Amino acid sequence: MLSGELLDGPRLPTLIHDLALLNSLGIKLVLVHGARPQISARLAESDIESTFEQHMRITDSAALDSVVAAVGALRLKLEGLFSMGLANSPMHNASIRLISGNFVVAKPVGVRGGFDYQHTGEVRRIDVDAIRQQLGNGNVVLLSPVGGSPTGELFNVNAEEVASTAAIALGADKLIIMGEHLRLADPQGHLVRELSPQQAGKLLAGDQYENNGVDRQLTAACHAASNGVARAHLLDAQVDGALIKELFTRDGCGTLVTRETYETLRGARIEDVGGILELIEPLEEDGTLVRRSRELLENEIQRFAIIERDGMVIACAALYPFPEEKTGELACVAVHSSYRKGERGAQVLGYLERRAREQGLHSLFVLTTLTAHWFQQQGFEAAGVEALPGARQSLYNWQRNSKVFVKGL
Ligand SMILES: CC(C)(COP(=O)(O)OP(=O)(O)OC[C@H]1O[C@@H](n2cnc3c(N)ncnc32)[C@H](O)[C@@H]1OP(=O)(O)O)[C@@H](O)C(=O)NCCC(=O)NCCS
Repeated sequence: MLSGELLDGPRLPTLIHDLALLNSLGIKLVLVHGARPQISARLAESDIESTFEQHMRITDSAALDSVVAAVGALRLKLEGLFSMGLANSPMHNASIRLISGNFVVAKPVGVRGGFDYQHTGEVRRIDVDAIRQQLGNGNVVLLSPVGGSPTGELFNVNAEEVASTAAIALGADKLIIMGEHLRLADPQGHLVRELSPQQAGKLLAGDQYENNGVDRQLTAACHAASNGVARAHLLDAQVDGALIKELFTRDGCGTLVTRETYETLRGARIEDVGGILELIEPLEEDGTLVRRSRELLENEIQRFAIIERDGMVIACAALYPFPEEKTGELACVAVHSSYRKGERGAQVLGYLERRAREQGLHSLFVLTTLTAHWFQQQGFEAAGVEALPGARQSLYNWQRNSKVFVKGL
């Protein structure tokens, strides 16, 4: 979904190039566009004052004309941009067909609390079969925030609702919502990278985002993530190449709203010590990991991250920071033998990388005897013992002769 603000912004043409690239990779795209600012502008031009009730615009017949004009113009604008095929543009020979139609069936919001919302509607149904057919033919489908009803009337619907309902109905892999300045930050101003629908619900219950665009966008992401769409992303279009970064880099650049799995990845607590010991014992026996006593683990438990599955610790890793050198040692990386090859090792690593970044570290290093290739696959590069911080060099066990690997953050 592209917010209405984005459609008037300078980044739209580049964004269309990115969408064209995804289409050329065979990714099936349904595009939903917003139209709020454009509708407001048309209403203002016609001297029509909008009335809002419960944050919803009441659309009377005169206002509906402005809605239709604004949405119609946006559809054509998008069609135009997708037709671009100039030799000196990234869309040379792209020949993408953007298909719009009466795919959204709407129903009136009706009379609520004494207010007749008239032509303001809700999504009643999405014509999934027709959309699938178009996607199957390699076309990009465009949905607008207007829906027709079986009575032949038109209704102004919320674009976020169209996007989340369509994503759920189509069984989409992802819902991606892009907006101008759509950035969720924690109280320290850091980007919130991941939220469960429950955590998102708590944010929405607060007054931070009340009655603004983020409120609607986060609600839509939350709705989709709670109803079978595995991943819903909120992306700030201000970030250059946001869409490509979000899809093709491990950490992405936006906020991911995703269902809580029954496996949880989290910082370890003192009650996890027993589980971690059980997990690493066989690896200590065969010499893959250095021995750690229960006492040592208890003292250092806050350095560990674990994946817990049904009360059992199935993966762990630890981060030992060297703040002066702005680096950190990654240690005790282990995944239970029954749960390997499920990217859990990579997940724990990603978690500790985020933790390291939050602590202001610029790199991570690891000492390994048997797992060099795995760390290389995770972006680590071979280095010499001299790359270690001084304090760590003096503890280096020459007999064990571990290899040193470093990854910049
Ligand atoms: C290394 C380890 C943490 C990876 O966990 P994981 O959850 O299976 O990791 P991922 O799913 O992210 O990656 C799996 C891939 O890494 C490969 N891999 C696993 N161990 C490897 C090793 N020692 N060397 C090279 N590749 C290895 C697997 O073959 C698999 O590749 P494939 O899917 O192409 O077959 C896990 O295998 C483990 O616990 N090993 C024993 C403990 C250990 O060596 N720890 C490091 C001590 S420094």
